[in-house]
Amino acid sequence: TPKSVDFVKEIKKLRKKKNAIILAHYYQEDAIQDIADFVGDSLALAQKAATTDADIIVFAGVHFMAETAKILNPKKKVLLPDLKAGCSLADSCPPADFEAFKKENPNHIVVSYVNTSAEIKALTDIVCTSSNAEKIINSIPKDRPIIFAPDRNLGAWLIKKTGRDMLLWDGACMVHEAFSIDKILKLYAENPGSEIIAHPESEAHLLKVAKYVGSTSGLLNYVKTSKAKTFIVATEVGILHKMRQDSPDKILIPAPVEDDSCNCSECFYMKMNTMKKLYLCLKHELPHVEVDPELSKKALVSIERMLELSK
Ligand code: 13P
Ligand code: SF4
Repeated sequence: TPKSVDFVKEIKKLRKKKNAIILAHYYQEDAIQDIADFVGDSLALAQKAATTDADIIVFAGVHFMAETAKILNPKKKVLLPDLKAGCSLADSCPPADFEAFKKENPNHIVVSYVNTSAEIKALTDIVCTSSNAEKIINSIPKDRPIIFAPDRNLGAWLIKKTGRDMLLWDGACMVHEAFSIDKILKLYAENPGSEIIAHPESEAHLLKVAKYVGSTSGLLNYVKTSKAKTFIVATEVGILHKMRQDSPDKILIPAPVEDDSCNCSECFYMKMNTMKKLYLCLKHELPHVEVDPELSKKALVSIERMLELSK
């Protein structure tokens, strides 16, 4: 019988030997978050990727995140434990259709959420994440019309927050659209003093009843500082790992989804990464993410504008 591998021990050894850094998103499985050198939201992860001096970046997240890291580090090897770890939101914005939409609206400044392919980023003026979207939109002169892509829910929420009239791309995340508003409101009624908190990729009816709306790091921070004891958390359930560590005295209830027969509040793509795949990709330095150099240069401009505005 083959000897079983101690993934934690082997990953630590390989990481040191190869001068690799493991970056993980809050939606990764607990063991991956625990072994990562850095865990963050998509903005913090991009910022970390932009400044690391490691030789190899192992991205425990989804493809667009690793691709962004590669665009920021064209000379470095960027590994993704499973290349199929995509994103339903990024997939909802095909480049050819988006290019046609942009051509129909040639005077618009294009702001795109980081959850997009390199092709979309190359068609974008400024990239944003849910942590800095408001700031980025507010930085655009009032007389300039704006296209916001690809998330219609985040877009609608930003229109409300900034008062800017934006043209929205009709995309969405399958995880954040799976929550059941009726079940959430029932839970809320059953837990007096509780607070509903939500990621802005959730639908408008949910954002309307949420006490706090923010990015993954925003949600973590809110739970730490709020006086409430019980929270109904409407985002991917992986976030509960860090939330429990940060706020052990709080009661955290994952928001229920419409269809009880599925694990819809887990991002199927984020969960494609496993400790075994993490170990194997570090060991073989495969699979790695590649971006066409010309495309990469174009996409870099919109990413760098975001980083500059987020300092
Ligand atoms: P954050 O930028 O808030 O971490 O969100 C990333 C994401 O994919 C949300 O679904
Ligand atoms: Fe994409 Fe949604 Fe998964 Fe985030 S949770 S990576 S937006 S599919």
